[in-house]
Amino acid sequence: MCGIVGYIGRRDATPVLIQGLKRLEYRGYDSFGIATVGSAIEVYKKNGRISDGEAGVVGLRGCTGIGHTRWATHGEPSDLNAHPHTDCSGRIAVVHNGVIENYGELKRQLAGRGHTFRSETDTEVIAHLIEEHYDGDLLAAVNATLPLLRGSYAVLAIAEDTPQIVAARDASPLVLGVGDAEIFAASDMTPLLEYTERVIFLEDGDVADLAPGRYTVYHGGQTVERPIELINWCVEDTRKGGFAHYMLKEIYEQPQSFYETIRAGIDEHVRQMVMEADEITLVACGTSYHTALAFKYLAEPLCNIPVRVEMGSEFKYFTPPLRGLAIAVSQSGETADTIAALKMAKARNCPTLAITNMQGSTVTRVADETLLMRAGPEIGVAATKSYTAQLAALMEIVNLRCEGAFDDVLSHAHLAIGDVLLQDINEAVALCSKAEHVFFVGRGAFYPVSMEGALKMKEISYVHAEGYAAGELKHGPFALLTPETPVVAVCTPGPTYGVMASNIKEMKARKAPVIALGVAGDTELAEIVDIFIPIPNTHLLVQVLTASVVLQLLAYHTACALQRDVDKPRNLAKSVTVE
Ligand code: G6P
Repeated sequence: MCGIVGYIGRRDATPVLIQGLKRLEYRGYDSFGIATVGSAIEVYKKNGRISDGEAGVVGLRGCTGIGHTRWATHGEPSDLNAHPHTDCSGRIAVVHNGVIENYGELKRQLAGRGHTFRSETDTEVIAHLIEEHYDGDLLAAVNATLPLLRGSYAVLAIAEDTPQIVAARDASPLVLGVGDAEIFAASDMTPLLEYTERVIFLEDGDVADLAPGRYTVYHGGQTVERPIELINWCVEDTRKGGFAHYMLKEIYEQPQSFYETIRAGIDEHVRQMVMEADEITLVACGTSYHTALAFKYLAEPLCNIPVRVEMGSEFKYFTPPLRGLAIAVSQSGETADTIAALKMAKARNCPTLAITNMQGSTVTRVADETLLMRAGPEIGVAATKSYTAQLAALMEIVNLRCEGAFDDVLSHAHLAIGDVLLQDINEAVALCSKAEHVFFVGRGAFYPVSMEGALKMKEISYVHAEGYAAGELKHGPFALLTPETPVVAVCTPGPTYGVMASNIKEMKARKAPVIALGVAGDTELAEIVDIFIPIPNTHLLVQVLTASVVLQLLAYHTACALQRDVDKPRNLAKSVTVE
């Protein structure tokens, strides 16, 4: 969580930093701040959103600066706890993403030596430690500080009177952008897209010394060469493009992002890895966990391969016996729990594969191989196009194991996704936006689809929602069914159609209004439910996609009807880089 950005070059740093922070706001948005090297270190930091407080940065001068957008871990969101943090003298400023685990002990020692703390954050100790070692050489002071820190960090530090930024990373992401006589640093590449396509992904343990138009990377005290890579995203992808919200734009981009991910295919190394596996374990969190679970429900019956799905957050403490291929599924490639699980699978000698949307992210560095999704930048906090792009990558694996049996289905699936974008769901939205609780139910692959539908609903509309395997609803949740508790049921032809129809009747008998997603033309189903939403009558793989997209739209429009902050839901962050 938290986004950091740095700039050093010939431009006025402030607008570059503010624009960059806005691109990183998905990582946290409870407060923000910047510091520039003007005639002295000039700092502005503010509780709340950037758009509400950015007027305050006017007047900060200098062509060197650092910025931060925060998701609070240590200390409540406030002006004082916002980054950058400075030392006692105000000559040094730092921004930090990560957690300094031993900050309590360091703080006590520093206070004992006379340092005065102004915030409750873990980060402030870094500024004071640099102060203790600073004699005009910022790089040396940072190098002396880093070994004292335990935990994770991506840090940018500046000092007064020096056109220099010292950047360091360990277990938190940091990317450099190489421009023409200017250098950028950021938590990911989105702030850089406007200025350069040349990036360097720093490695854990790297320290970089940045000056206008020049950079040197050190590792273990030695200078190292890190390759310059080209970004495959463009800046237009990060704009709202006339849509009311990023989330809606990203929902509408799904036919393309799905198609692009399928079109990119699977390279030979990954193919071999997938074909050699006799068992697959997937680790993931949040929405990615749901795509992993959908994979299980598709791959086990269709390809006859055992699949285990584990939550990243549980895996570390309750590690199952592992065999075969381990796949980490992570949109951002930076989710701490997923990375930890991936490392454990690797330590147990499993071949490892990362499925991610983020070129150069940590999972790509840890895993043996990477399958890169082609969703482009996703700015809305709620995952939408990255979810269907993950499904594209995972369905490709299913297809590969089934010797291309679904080539045709997958190469046309984007058309069906495009069709459901136009589906009228107004009645369902009206019902859900009046409800306090909504249940989402399905069987087989539609069970994870329902879990994801419920997650989308609760995260952006704040309407309480639960995703259930349909048959489980009577083991408890039935007690909650009332005429005010809608149930959204996915019920398409197949072996579970009959039993789903019976479940729906049981719900109706408890007077719960039922919104059913079924295939177009299913008049029998339409007759027994309150609201019927048709999806194209296609292959199961495509139904999983189309049903998911309808549920995204249901959550989106419900959130809009309730006037929620759709792109930045309260308390959340898109990339969860702490345990
Ligand atoms: C956060 C985001 C979710 C995401 C989850 C896992 O909770 O808000 O949308 O699904 O992290 O993220 P990952 O980047 O690993 O897919």
